[in-house]
Amino acid sequence: MVSIAEGSGGVRAVERCRALGRAPYSDMEGGLYRGWLSPAHRASVETLAQWMEEAGMAARIDGAGNLVGTYPGTGNGPPLIIGSHIDSVRDGGFYDGPLGIMLGVECVAALHAQGRHMPFPIEVIAFGDEEGSRFPAAMLTSKAVAGLLDTVPDMADAQGVSLAQALGEWGLSPETLLAARHPGALAYLEAHIEQGPVLEAEGLALGVVTGIAAQLRYEVAVRGLAGHAGTSAMPLRRDALAGAAEMILAIEAIARADHSDLVATVGRLAALPGAANVIAGEVRFTIDVRAGESPRRDHAAQAVLAEIAAIAARRGLSLDHRLIHDLPPSPCDPALMDGLEAALVGAGYPARRLVSGAGHDAMIMAAIAPTAMLFTRCREGVSHNPAEHVEEADAQAALAVMLGFIENLGVSCA
Ligand code: GLV
Ligand code: MN
Ligand code: MN
Repeated sequence: MVSIAEGSGGVRAVERCRALGRAPYSDMEGGLYRGWLSPAHRASVETLAQWMEEAGMAARIDGAGNLVGTYPGTGNGPPLIIGSHIDSVRDGGFYDGPLGIMLGVECVAALHAQGRHMPFPIEVIAFGDEEGSRFPAAMLTSKAVAGLLDTVPDMADAQGVSLAQALGEWGLSPETLLAARHPGALAYLEAHIEQGPVLEAEGLALGVVTGIAAQLRYEVAVRGLAGHAGTSAMPLRRDALAGAAEMILAIEAIARADHSDLVATVGRLAALPGAANVIAGEVRFTIDVRAGESPRRDHAAQAVLAEIAAIAARRGLSLDHRLIHDLPPSPCDPALMDGLEAALVGAGYPARRLVSGAGHDAMIMAAIAPTAMLFTRCREGVSHNPAEHVEEADAQAALAVMLGFIENLGVSCA
């Protein structure tokens, strides 16, 4: 068996992630922000489509705004999908998402350079919405592909642009989003930066993911009474921001007291009307709760909701919460994990398995395919931050392992 040579594709993958880190591929001055269906997303998809075509793929945009590159196999069975997301958080890093796409493109480029086709087609998917940083939901585009969307949520971005309008600007619609369902895949492979410190601490470039932690996300509104900052006596106030501050510390305390992998985060907060001399009348914030298992996550979420309700009652505030995101834990496929580990060891790297605290499109794609994920070390575990950094040599190592995985899958399908 002739193995697929990877050339220096890993280096090019990293360079391409960096190239997409600025205008016109970012909608933020001095940093990276690429929201779903934004101008930056459009520019990125156009350039990425060229890269896919140069790698030998036919590229198209599906009904959800995902870019899909297809490389034919010698057979017409279900494809191996290699996917990750092209959207970013606000002021994010270059690699969270795009690295997995660029490495997928490099896998195909390596096959194409040798005129090789596997027994199965390969699709590389650049998902449009994994982070949920534009609309108040997340992973909508992989949900559409996995057939998990029955209805299109009625929602708008921070500027008041509805999802239907945003889809319309791309020539898409709620109907095309629902119709983006994939017929099914042989396997789903996602490479991603670890976004944590484990691999670096152990001096390892790569690890095989065993599964992804369960997530819950709420949007909370706390309402009190807006008033004059100079004339309202302290005992008479119903300050929504002071109440929210107490709630946030209570949420942190509940998560800290758990002493497990449970984590809870308030990552977004808006105080209204938002003036130095006005007591905040309303505060909106998000709560993100995660744990390796749903019961622990749910128990903590119930404790959080009960505690913030008690704080609101004590302070004479009203409180509403809305569940905006709920994903169970997603174990990776045991046989594919073994296949990925065999490729890792075959390429000369030590075997290491680890769990993912971060969410990934693989959680969703598990509905239509067995999934495998490969983690790449990232500097100091920093992610969702412009300081995110990946060594070119580690991306090169990831590419070699992905190609070994594809080779082994080809053998098992032959
Ligand atoms: C995605 O980055 C997530 O885990 O929130
Ligand atoms: Mn992310
Ligand atoms: Mn990601």
